[in-house]
Amino acid sequence: MRFLVVGGGAREHAIARALVPAEAEVVVASANANPGLERIARRSARIDPTDAAKVVAFARDSGADIAVIGPEAPLAAGVADALRAAEIPTVGPDRDAAQIESSKLFCRELLTRHGVPGQPKWVAPLSVDEADSAAAGFGRPFVVKPSGLTAGKGVWVQGSDFTEAREGAAYAKTLLVQGGRVLLEERLEGEEFSLMAFVTDSGVYPMPAVQDFKRALEGDHGGNTGGMGSYSQRDHLLPFLSARDRDLALTILHRTVDALRAQGFRYRGILYGGFMLTATGPVLLEFNARFGDPEGINVLTLYEEGDFADLLAGVAQGRVDSNLVTFRPRATVVKYLVPPGYGGSVRPGGILTLDAKAIEAAGVHVVYGSVDIAGPGQVRLGSSRGVALVGEASAIYEAGARVESALRHVSGPYYVRHDIGTKEDLARRWEHVRRLRAPEAKPSPLPLSVAPPDAPPASHGIPEQLLG
Ligand code: AMP
Ligand code: GLY
Repeated sequence: MRFLVVGGGAREHAIARALVPAEAEVVVASANANPGLERIARRSARIDPTDAAKVVAFARDSGADIAVIGPEAPLAAGVADALRAAEIPTVGPDRDAAQIESSKLFCRELLTRHGVPGQPKWVAPLSVDEADSAAAGFGRPFVVKPSGLTAGKGVWVQGSDFTEAREGAAYAKTLLVQGGRVLLEERLEGEEFSLMAFVTDSGVYPMPAVQDFKRALEGDHGGNTGGMGSYSQRDHLLPFLSARDRDLALTILHRTVDALRAQGFRYRGILYGGFMLTATGPVLLEFNARFGDPEGINVLTLYEEGDFADLLAGVAQGRVDSNLVTFRPRATVVKYLVPPGYGGSVRPGGILTLDAKAIEAAGVHVVYGSVDIAGPGQVRLGSSRGVALVGEASAIYEAGARVESALRHVSGPYYVRHDIGTKEDLARRWEHVRRLRAPEAKPSPLPLSVAPPDAPPASHGIPEQLLG
């Protein structure tokens, strides 16, 4: 079977990597020449992935049987519609259904109309006057979100991105004046997690839960990014996420798919729920209509070798055998190497010297993102996330330690969040949720803010089995 992968980032490299052991052939349509994809692909074409006519022409010319769309922009541009019209079964919803991601307003209105649980208080002002009064009258801390796609970077959270309600109102008004719609949402407190599922005409098949690290800097400081790294746990839950909470989140996914169907939308692809685990349970932050980046890299690393082509083909055709949805019981940690300043004033162009063979020999995978080949063993960083290193082990902290030790095979000007997947960070998040849910309990031995870098090993109360 020949698969067309649309998109040229690390997520798409991870998709292609998972297809290769399934003896699928891969062809790629992307704007950039991703070194990892170039190595795997039978053919690749430099095409704007949102240009539906060119993508379809390449799909036909390269004899693709199935298409998989990686990023959100082609979905929002109707590339899946065009591929289906050309009778190429596609993983990824049509443009109308992809509004679940491309329009946060569409998403909140749909979920509210159908009474889907787990929604925050929200309002969508229509004018600058309404924005002023909505902000002034919100009555609790709020976030401001552009309704459209912003690659995770457009959301302003009161308390971290702005302080006073009037500053939030000013941002909302700027967005309105630029011609977009905007949402004010109750600021949720808790720990974020992502739950993705394969969606067919009749089923919703969940993947392991993942925690993404959105903020640019260690300790969750700095600006919001597409995601600096992520981890998943051996039992496919998370240290702070119980099976019950995961099941509540899964119910929200099911109810959302039901709501889409009730509105007449067919959905064949990946549905990604971004949740906040709050004191009262999971609340939906956003939906995406595709694999998360980096979260997709975690789960694709865990996919049982051999059947991924059949699974994706099934999703594209609207029906899968549930036995194909199996993930190895291992923990994973992904850390992105990014150009200095990423998440703020980024300084692209630095050259990384990277001994990929030594890294892979140490059991850590190298997944390429926004980089070009700069020479033998060298890549040039673009302005986005450059290279993802993926560690796998039985415990999250061990997988994180593997990635850290692989960093000795990389030199050059990059930034990485060393705190992702450390015992201290896991304990802090576990403790955060425990305190939220039992505020009267005795204070934690761990500060809720970031432990200083030279903090002694945490004498945390996190159960060992959660760390393992
Ligand atoms: P989104 O694009 O909606 O996922 O938002 C990007 C990031 O902004 C999320 O991952 C959260 O870190 C933050 N965020 C979004 N909505 C909220 C909310 N209602 N409360 C707190 N943080 C939020
Ligand atoms: N990591 C967040 C996203 O893929 O949107």
